[in-house]
Amino acid sequence: MPAAPERQCWPAEAIWEAVVPMLPGFSVEVLPQIDSTNSELMRRCRAGRTETVLLVAEHQSAGRGRLGRPWHSAPGSSLTFSLGLTLAPGDWSGLSLAVGVSLAERLRAIGATGVGLKWPNDLWLGWAKLGGILIETAGLGADRYAVVGVGINVGASGGALAEPAGGAAQEVPPVGLQSVTQASAPQVLGAVVPALVRDLMRFEREGWPAFAQRFAALDLLKGRPVQLSDGREGLACGVGAGGALRLQTPAGLVEVGSGELSVRPQR
Ligand code: BTN
Repeated sequence: MPAAPERQCWPAEAIWEAVVPMLPGFSVEVLPQIDSTNSELMRRCRAGRTETVLLVAEHQSAGRGRLGRPWHSAPGSSLTFSLGLTLAPGDWSGLSLAVGVSLAERLRAIGATGVGLKWPNDLWLGWAKLGGILIETAGLGADRYAVVGVGINVGASGGALAEPAGGAAQEVPPVGLQSVTQASAPQVLGAVVPALVRDLMRFEREGWPAFAQRFAALDLLKGRPVQLSDGREGLACGVGAGGALRLQTPAGLVEVGSGELSVRPQR
């Protein structure tokens, strides 16, 4: 029988202490394995359990990415977690970009200085995908339960070209996966979660405008020729109101929403 993978030592208590003053009722759960942390929190939500919780999985057997793609991750070489909480911002537009800003800034602060954002919310290191964000919401009205799912490659597993997380190979053929090579998954988790909660609270109060300049400082596409998954091409001109990608095309300036499209830089 194959040996069970070694469990990691997670800073659950330190995270709880940092977060609970901002989010009363907050709890931290670390599981050795689950299909998907996002799926689990959405299942709990449908069962009426809209918990304020950080759910970390050491391994996901059916991780999900944006646009229905799978998200593959190997134990020890990736950090996979979801934060479930009720939010009531005046305007939800730009939430996933704001999450990307929060994560990228913290990763830079712990030494991954080259981390940037590829619209709408992919974390890239240089020209390789380092991680991604999948946000799902449930409920009607102003208050919605939000599940903020994050996958980040850590450890020395960078360059795994064969089956990159989130189908990055289809998206950006010439590059492989990168990783935050100096940090373990528990270290990255401890570094990003308190700031992420702070930024989500700020998003709830102030919305996307509070993050627009911070995004601009991390925007890897700005000024670059890009191609959208629907075939349109143009020059990326930053991000407009609500987090839409501004694209200068032969037909004029267009704004592209993040819902159904992916974008890749042309080189
Ligand atoms: C993407 O870039 O397509 C988004 C990837 C999001 C992956 C994370 S891993 C933790 C959480 N659980 C999931 O099933 N997906 C998100």
